[in-house]
Amino acid sequence: MDAARRALLPTEESQELLVLTAELAEKELAPRVSEYEAAGHFPREVFRTLGHAGLLGLPYPEQYGGGGQPYEVYLQVVEELARHWLAVGVGVSVHTLSCHALAHYGDQDQKDRWLPEMIGGDLLGAYCLSEAAHGSDAANLTTRAVAGPDGIYSLEGTKAWITHGGEADFYTVIARTGGPGAKGITAFLADAATPGLSAAPPERKMGLRASTTAQVHFDGALIPAERRIGAEGEGFAIAMDALDSGRLGIAACAVGLTRAALEAATAYARDRIQFGKPIIEHDGVGFLLADMATRVEVGRAAYLVAARLRDEGVPFRKQAAAAKLYCSDAAMQSTIDAVQVLGGYGYTTDFPVERYMREAKMLQIVEGTNQIQRRVIARALTRD
Ligand code: CAA
Repeated sequence: MDAARRALLPTEESQELLVLTAELAEKELAPRVSEYEAAGHFPREVFRTLGHAGLLGLPYPEQYGGGGQPYEVYLQVVEELARHWLAVGVGVSVHTLSCHALAHYGDQDQKDRWLPEMIGGDLLGAYCLSEAAHGSDAANLTTRAVAGPDGIYSLEGTKAWITHGGEADFYTVIARTGGPGAKGITAFLADAATPGLSAAPPERKMGLRASTTAQVHFDGALIPAERRIGAEGEGFAIAMDALDSGRLGIAACAVGLTRAALEAATAYARDRIQFGKPIIEHDGVGFLLADMATRVEVGRAAYLVAARLRDEGVPFRKQAAAAKLYCSDAAMQSTIDAVQVLGGYGYTTDFPVERYMREAKMLQIVEGTNQIQRRVIARALTRD
């Protein structure tokens, strides 16, 4: 790790954590990524390895078995993972998002019962908000949770675009218990083994094929009231609050992907000779790389500013949306440019940059499209 990177980590412990993450990524992620992505194979064993290394509960309190790390450290770990394998970085981020509702809105008994195993490393989570007809307009979701006389909720409906759908061990589910709009929504924590909870076959995606995305069906799935998180009607605010943090994970992933593109393009441009000199010495190429390197620095700074606000308990919604917007657009442009630097080779599957380009597109869509991020930022401007 170079001195500039080291200086961005607040403690010696966090510096060691990043070194350990980089070593783990070299050993466990790098050898698998091309093959698994080509085959669309979900790397469950990799998440288990990361979990046993403590990387699936980093920002959660130590008293529940978490890493007790500030968000600024956790996000740099996610960036490092995503640099080697975006699907794994996104998987860690989505798992962390899935634990947010219970960790921040669960009562003491709920946290004591479920949080240690959720962040303990063996389990993987999924976050069920989106539906086929309600993606951006999440407040109009239609999955219903109806409480019976015994207090047990029966869930009916289908969630869409669920990362880890069918692979997860637990699902944070946002469903309607009341009337229309945001106020009628409630959060639940469902065990994957709940009868009536099932997943459709995975979507066939443009990229991140190793990250399973599937619809999740709730067909009379019975969830006891003790698994309701927060009061009835609080679910939308809980879901949005979780996404403020989750979007920072996506921003960190985007910086990791931008780094991967920059490193691949730089290595190629140093070796490739045209017109008698390495193409990196031609300004047309060198400037593309310079812009990519700038996006890495600016993107990391953007997510770190938001993370530090969060760590200080200061509102960070606008900064999180801005970081997600900037970093994912930066990853898109940088991966397109990386393909350009490699020219004909970049367009083949012999080099990873064509995959990076396909993967970057997802970052502009997931956890709120970049149009929605602009809406969040514009709303903050009207209220500030
Ligand atoms: N934190 C806490 N509360 C919030 C909030 C936040 N970030 N954002 C909104 N709320 C509250 C508001 O304060 C409001 O409550 P009050 O009336 O009491 O003030 C209530 O929620 C409704 O807010 P809005 O009027 O702003 O709601 P809206 O219908 O206009 O929607 C939106 C706002 C920003 C567009 C929101 O719907 C949104 O973010 N949509 C995108 C959803 C999204 O990101 N989906 C991705 C899902 S995850 C995924 O991609 C897959 C995966 O596997 C991870």
